[in-house]
Amino acid sequence: MTTPIDPTTTPAWAALEALHATFTPDLRGWFDEDEGRVERLSFPLADLHVDLSKNLVTAEVLSALVTLAEQTGVAERYAQMLAGVHLNTTEDRAVLHTALRRPRGASPELVVDGQHIDTDVQEVLDALSAFADRVRSGDWLGVTGKKVTHVVNIGIGGSDLGPVMVYEALKPYADAGIQARFVSNIDPTDIAEKTADLDPETTLFIVASKTFTTLETLTNARLARDWLWAGLASAGAIDGTDAAKTDAVSHHFVAVSTALDKVEAFGIDPANAFGFWDWVGGRYSVDSAIGLSLAIALGPVAFRELLAGFHAVDEHVATTPLAQNVPVLMGLLNVWYTNFLGAQTHAVLPYAQQLSRFPAYLQQLTMESNGKSVRWDGTAVTTDTGEVYWGEPGTNGQHAFYQLIHQGTRLIPADFIAFANPAYPLTDDGRDVHALFLANFLAQTRALAFGKTAEEVEAEGTTGALVAARTFSGNRPTTSIFAPALTPSVLGQLIALYEHIVFTQGTIWGINSFDQWGVELGKQLALQIAPAIEGDDDALVKQDASTQALIRYYRAHR
Ligand code: F6P
Repeated sequence: MTTPIDPTTTPAWAALEALHATFTPDLRGWFDEDEGRVERLSFPLADLHVDLSKNLVTAEVLSALVTLAEQTGVAERYAQMLAGVHLNTTEDRAVLHTALRRPRGASPELVVDGQHIDTDVQEVLDALSAFADRVRSGDWLGVTGKKVTHVVNIGIGGSDLGPVMVYEALKPYADAGIQARFVSNIDPTDIAEKTADLDPETTLFIVASKTFTTLETLTNARLARDWLWAGLASAGAIDGTDAAKTDAVSHHFVAVSTALDKVEAFGIDPANAFGFWDWVGGRYSVDSAIGLSLAIALGPVAFRELLAGFHAVDEHVATTPLAQNVPVLMGLLNVWYTNFLGAQTHAVLPYAQQLSRFPAYLQQLTMESNGKSVRWDGTAVTTDTGEVYWGEPGTNGQHAFYQLIHQGTRLIPADFIAFANPAYPLTDDGRDVHALFLANFLAQTRALAFGKTAEEVEAEGTTGALVAARTFSGNRPTTSIFAPALTPSVLGQLIALYEHIVFTQGTIWGINSFDQWGVELGKQLALQIAPAIEGDDDALVKQDASTQALIRYYRAHR
C-alpha cells in the first residue's frame, strides 16, 4: 500500500494558500479585462462543451491547482486504477469499473489477478443483450404465455439509483412497449404502489444486488414473489403446488449479482442470473449487468451506446494533459472551493426534466465515495473532504432554493447541465418552449456570475432600503455543461465525468473512494433494534434511553 501524499505539505498547496491570502473574486473585472477567458476556459469533452469561465479562478490559481494534481500523483494513480492495482485497500480489491465499457477487442487485453477481464465483460454483455432481445421480442414469455410489458428492478443504492436515473433520462428511447419500474425502499409503500396496477402474468422482476444480502432488497424480493404467486393463483393461472410456484418464479424472476450461489439459494434459476465482479463498486455499477432493466426497456443497442459514452471520457482522462483534462480540472475546482474558499455543498442543476434523478444519483457517487475522514492507509485526512451534493432540475429549483444561491451568505458552486435539443420539441403560441427553457439556464448563470450592482438597481428607479434588497453581489461560481442532446452516449459521458471528478478529489485528499464502511453501523443496529420494535423487551432494554422511548411511542401508537 502506498502512503498517501499529504496535499497540505506540497509546494502547490503553499502556493494556493499564498494566492488565497490576497484572493478577491471579480468575475466582472476578469471578463472585462480578459477577452480570451471564455475561450481559454471552455473545453470539449467528447460531445460535451464544458465552460469553466464563470468559476472563481484566475490563471495563477488554476495553474497552482494543476500543479497540485501533479504533486499528488493524480495521473499516476489513474493509470494504476486502469491497470487493476488494488486501490480499494480496505477490501483488497481492484477498481475496474472503467473495464466495463472497454470496447470489444480492446488492446492490449486486460488481465488482472489472473482474470481475463475483457473476455468476461463481453461474455456478460452478450448474455445480457441476448436476454434483453428475447424479452423485447416476446421470445421470453411469462408462465401463462404472455409477453412481458413491465420489468420491475428491485435493488437499492447503486443497484437502484443508476438504473432509475438512466431510465428516466432515456425514456424516449424505450421502444419495445416495455416499461421499467424501480422498487428500492423497505417502506412497504414502495412495492405496494409500484405493483398495484401491474399484471403478474406480464411482469418480470429483476432482483439486483451485488452482495445479495441487502435487507431491503431481499425483503422486497420476497414480497414480490408472494405478490406474484398470489396474483397468479387468484387468476387461476397456477395452483398452490411447490412445482407451480417454482415454475412461476423461473418465468418471472431474474437476478443480477456477484453472489450467484445466493441467487440460487433464493430460488432463482442460475441460468437466469447475470454476474458481475467484486471490482465493481455498487455506485459504479450502472454500466455492469446492473443495467439489465435498461437493456430490456431501452434495448441493447442503446445500452452499448451508453457504455461507449463512458469510454470516450475514460479515454479523455487517460490521454489528455492535466491542464486540459476536464474531469481533473473540475475536481481541482472543487478542491479549491472546499479547502480554500470554504464551500460545503455543491449544487447540480440540470436544465432537463429527464435528469430529475441525476442529483440523487450523484449524491451516492460523490458522498459515499468521498465522505471519509481517514485516508487509504488508515491515517486521518489532513483537510476537509467530500461536499454535500444536492440539486433539482431547473426551472423548478429557481422557484424554490435559488434565492439562497443568489443572495445568501454561503458559497455554493453549481453545475448547470443543458441540451441544445429537447426530447419533445413543443411550441407555445409559435414560441419554442425549449428555447425559453434554455434562456432560463443562461439567465441564471449570468446573474450568478455578474450580479447586479446598487448603481444598476438605482438606475432603474429603485431607492432606499429596497436598493440593498435588490442588489446581487455576483461572483457565485458556476460551470456550464452543454451538449447537443441527451442521447445514451452523452449520458454515459456525463456519468463518467463525475466518476472521474470524484477520483481526482479522492486522490488529492488521500481517500479510498471505493469503500463505504460508514453505511455498516446503521445496518447492524437496525438488525438489533428490529426485535425490540416487534415486542422483545430484552432487546428493548439494551437500547439507549432515547431509542427506548421512541420504541415505546411506536408500540403505543401502532
Ligand atoms: O449502501 C451501501 C451499499 O453497499 C451501496 O454501496 C450499494 O450500492 C448498496 O448498499 C446496495 O448493495 P447491494 O447491491 O449489495 O444490494
